[in-house]
Amino acid sequence: MPQKIAAGNWKMNAPDLGEVDALARQHPDPGVTLLLCPPATLLAALSERLSDMKIQTGGQDCHTASSGAHTGDVSAAMLKAAGASHVILGHSERRADHGESDALVRQKAEAALEASLTPILCLGETLEQRDSGQTLDVIETQLAGSLPKTDAPLIIAYEPVWAIGTGRTPTPGQIEEVHALLRDRSPADTPLLYGGSVKGSNAAEIFAIANVDGALVGGASLTAEAFSPIVSALEASV
Ligand code: 13P
Repeated sequence: MPQKIAAGNWKMNAPDLGEVDALARQHPDPGVTLLLCPPATLLAALSERLSDMKIQTGGQDCHTASSGAHTGDVSAAMLKAAGASHVILGHSERRADHGESDALVRQKAEAALEASLTPILCLGETLEQRDSGQTLDVIETQLAGSLPKTDAPLIIAYEPVWAIGTGRTPTPGQIEEVHALLRDRSPADTPLLYGGSVKGSNAAEIFAIANVDGALVGGASLTAEAFSPIVSALEASV
């Protein structure tokens, strides 16, 4: 059985870390894996704050190299040293803002695995691609191009670009179709997360979909009040 995971992606936001204490109090012994991915500047402080709690931390990106002349970048080994267990890679915002290709994402995933971090590989179609019937082809191409060439465990997150931060979500059937493809094309027991406008009000319905093993949550991961019901919905689905 794949692991069940509720992961928060704080993106370029710095919520009060007291929110995390509240979340930990509400889920002292979570029946699922709980993970928060803050901006790199907060990673060490958050990891330290959570060291006695059952919430893990992750980065939002890493460089392909372990060190060197790469101004502004952070290596996987540095994330690991700051307490991270995971790293989000290939998020559509990085693909759009920084022109990241599938090949680069694969190299980053290999660097992450080398540093003993679990990559969370993100993929998803744009609205234009969905409307023109290309969704499954796009997902298959992204997966084939970015999946590292090893059997090391990793996590895959399906995040339709048009569902991120928009309040729109695909139908359960649309999510199920993509997740069935991902299940078929990824190593056995790979946790498959859905991401894009997940909230307390839609989480239970999303977690009931076949081959959905959890969520990668943006906006609703910034407060305990918004994230806790999502975690509870995942716990209830186990
Ligand atoms: P939202 O939950 O804000 O739509 O963001 C999803 C996301 O991009 C998580 O990586």
